Amino acid sequence: MSLKKINPTLSKSWKDLKIHFEKISNEKIYELFNKNPYRFKDLKIEWGNFLIDFSKNKITTKTIDLLINLSNELGLKEAINNHFKGSKINETENRSVLHTALRSKKSEEIIVDGENIIPEIHENKEKLYSFCENVISGNHKGFNGKEIKDIVNIGIGGSDLGPSMVTDALAYYSNHLKVHFASNIDGDHINEILKKLNPETTLFIIVSKTFTTQETITNANTFKKWFLSYSSKKEIPKHFVAVSSNINAVIDFGIDPKNIFPMKDWVGGRFSLWSSVGLSIALSIGPSNFEKLLNGAKEMDEHFKNSDFKKNIPVTLALISIWYNNFYNAETEAIIPYTEYLNKFPSYLQQAVMESNGKNIDRSGDPISYQTGGIIWGASGTNSQHAFFQLLHQGTKLIPMDFIGFKNSLHENTEHHEKLMSNFFAQTEALMKGKNSFEVKEELNSKKISLDKIEKLIPFKTFKGDRPSTSILIDSLTPHSLGSLISMYEHKIFVQGYIWNIFSYDQWGVELGKALAKNILDEIKNNKKNKHDPSTENLIKFFKK
Ligand code: F6P
Repeated sequence: MSLKKINPTLSKSWKDLKIHFEKISNEKIYELFNKNPYRFKDLKIEWGNFLIDFSKNKITTKTIDLLINLSNELGLKEAINNHFKGSKINETENRSVLHTALRSKKSEEIIVDGENIIPEIHENKEKLYSFCENVISGNHKGFNGKEIKDIVNIGIGGSDLGPSMVTDALAYYSNHLKVHFASNIDGDHINEILKKLNPETTLFIIVSKTFTTQETITNANTFKKWFLSYSSKKEIPKHFVAVSSNINAVIDFGIDPKNIFPMKDWVGGRFSLWSSVGLSIALSIGPSNFEKLLNGAKEMDEHFKNSDFKKNIPVTLALISIWYNNFYNAETEAIIPYTEYLNKFPSYLQQAVMESNGKNIDRSGDPISYQTGGIIWGASGTNSQHAFFQLLHQGTKLIPMDFIGFKNSLHENTEHHEKLMSNFFAQTEALMKGKNSFEVKEELNSKKISLDKIEKLIPFKTFKGDRPSTSILIDSLTPHSLGSLISMYEHKIFVQGYIWNIFSYDQWGVELGKALAKNILDEIKNNKKNKHDPSTENLIKFFKK
């Protein structure tokens, strides 16, 4: 079953939301707390070790009801079922979208093209786990009989961002293996990695679904050349493995077929960390922790699939984001994790969200007349407080924010954790409450500043407040809770794409630049002359001079 093709803005619920928006858009979040003493209780969702507080948003319970009406009118429930059961919802590529199947139990059954895909998923996982155990235990030896110490993940986009984000996020659970990530086709980056490596004790994982990506294949060849300058071709199987769906290209590269971990076409790159693409993660934290990551994601899948929309975390996150994007015209969303471990989480989400929902053609192939995917950005708190929070507090733009924090730290230092989390709570409060001129005046008065100076300073020291945020508070950062957190955002992406009537799982928009780069490279290398606009032509000329 394909996804329905309905322009959301023509629905009755959208019109109701517009009327509702006119009524409440001028209400301040803080005042809404005075109007409804049960606001926090009404607008929070508790699930397992997660507490999601939606109450500091520019919404009321009526907003949520109306947004849920919208999802019901558009048939969201049926769409979710179609996604999970393997319908070809990636219509432009004629593919199912089944990263969720990678988290499935052995007993489940999901049929794709007439075949149950679950047994193969588990077989592949067992092969992956057994390979990891061999490397971690030191049984897998390099060409000089030495144990592997360094792992290099060679991949880009979804073949890099997920694994590198999770490896960093779960560094606390990591073993002795050092994992490096080579993504950019930047010789400097590769050189810096090479400086840290010993060919005798390094394992390279080439991760590329297509095995045609220019950056990955160029980097892989550079690493291979370097390796061969110390060793010989026959030793490649001990040091090079690949994750790909293009088996022939991997074999042509010189990799032993038994060292190929397959990838299926029903897993999109940006949703693939749960598959063999997660090999570097499983090597770093071990198979049992990797399994916990999958289980955490699975639990969120079940919550998403089965919970009533009113208490459904991904659905609520998605609907509130649509509310800001399409009614308040908010252009961006900031992700602020209060842990350095999640430093790469905003970049990871950038690809997941923007490559999925940055589309201007609807599911019928017609141009869209409303806003779709938002711009995702962010950085870890408290660093970001000292960088861009000025704009969040006093800038002219409405930027909804997700604050992500943990009740318990992984270190034993309470002093640090209490300070860190005080900042989290204080920021969400300050953003919402702001500071009025009366409060500013009182504060300055107590500092014995002249009245004249006080009057001049008041506008600069006033905060309008009413800046929305969602707080995501989790018990602690574990493989399990991280799995749930990532899966939560994956499902948010699905819901948004569905409601916006776009296809979230293709990425045609990245192709044009790739093709032009190929032509330009040919031009630069072979002194050819192609037709360009004057700007591009002169840039190339300058580069070649
Ligand atoms: O250019 C975008 C993209 O196609 C992503 O969707 C993907 O994650 C990345 O490139 C890497 O692709 P591959 O795994 O095929 O090398």
